[in-house]
Amino acid sequence: MNNKVTVSAPGKLLLLGEHSVIYGYPSLVTAMDARVYVKAQKTDENSDRIIAPQVKDTRFVEKALVFFKEKYQLSSSVCVTTRSDFSHNVGLGSSSAVTVASFKALSVLFEKNLTNKEIFNLSYQLTIHIQGVGSGFDIAAAVWGGVLYYIYGGKTIDPVVTSALPLVVGYCGFKADTPTLVKKVRSTYQKSRLATDKIFKEITQLVEKGKKYLMMNDYSHLGNIMTQNHKLLQKLNVSTPKLDRMVEKAVSAGAFGAKLSGAGGGDCMIALVGAVNRKKVEQAIVNAGGEIIQVQNNAPGVRVEQ
Ligand code: PMV
Repeated sequence: MNNKVTVSAPGKLLLLGEHSVIYGYPSLVTAMDARVYVKAQKTDENSDRIIAPQVKDTRFVEKALVFFKEKYQLSSSVCVTTRSDFSHNVGLGSSSAVTVASFKALSVLFEKNLTNKEIFNLSYQLTIHIQGVGSGFDIAAAVWGGVLYYIYGGKTIDPVVTSALPLVVGYCGFKADTPTLVKKVRSTYQKSRLATDKIFKEITQLVEKGKKYLMMNDYSHLGNIMTQNHKLLQKLNVSTPKLDRMVEKAVSAGAFGAKLSGAGGGDCMIALVGAVNRKKVEQAIVNAGGEIIQVQNNAPGVRVEQ
């Protein structure tokens, strides 16, 4: 029996369907090849220890330890060390990746053989406990990887068979506060239910069409769908002038389409770009004040590294 294990899980990008996914509508999400690594080791110390040099907030790992040890009535102490390929400030899903990797590491360390669905359920429960809101799309991406057609709370988690998408990811320079944006849309929804639900339904049509184009590798149509999704997110008032500028410049520079990705209010935008225009689009995003994050998508889900 091993007394230590290292596990990694990927970050994520929302391709289509943010916000409406909170209301039970579908979304499309992909996992990135930028990963979070969790090493878990049994120790003789009398309390657990978390070593996370890149982050201040270790609540997700702390709670994962508490949840797991309570569930299985475990008394051994564990030392958890985390490391990430990407900053927790860019909104690419470091909290969900570290949570999923922690549960998987503990499952392997204590030989509990948790299934992916059990890891998803524990991670989702923990996220709701800490954040109060969330559809869980980021957790599904961290667990299963690839590209997923996803419905709230894991009601549907269907892998979409496709190749990695030619995406450019641009960080706008400041972090989004996802719970605040979810609450903002909630209050819009409560004030004008019909109009907001109409937008959600329009987004849903884009998700369904987008899934089809994705499976056909039809980037020209998929890009167009992404730009339309961005316009609907503008209508929901979750974009910012800077994200809008980055999206507009990317499209003018020859991207098939572009949109904000995630809650809005900050974080990243994505542009779908053919090889010929890639450099031009990257430059246009930088000229609009963005920073390019070099990542691939359609990456594998949680896995044991050693
Ligand atoms: O800000 P992110 O990348 O965690 O994305 C949030 C997406 C929402 O649909 C607004 C919320 C959710 O949990 O689905």
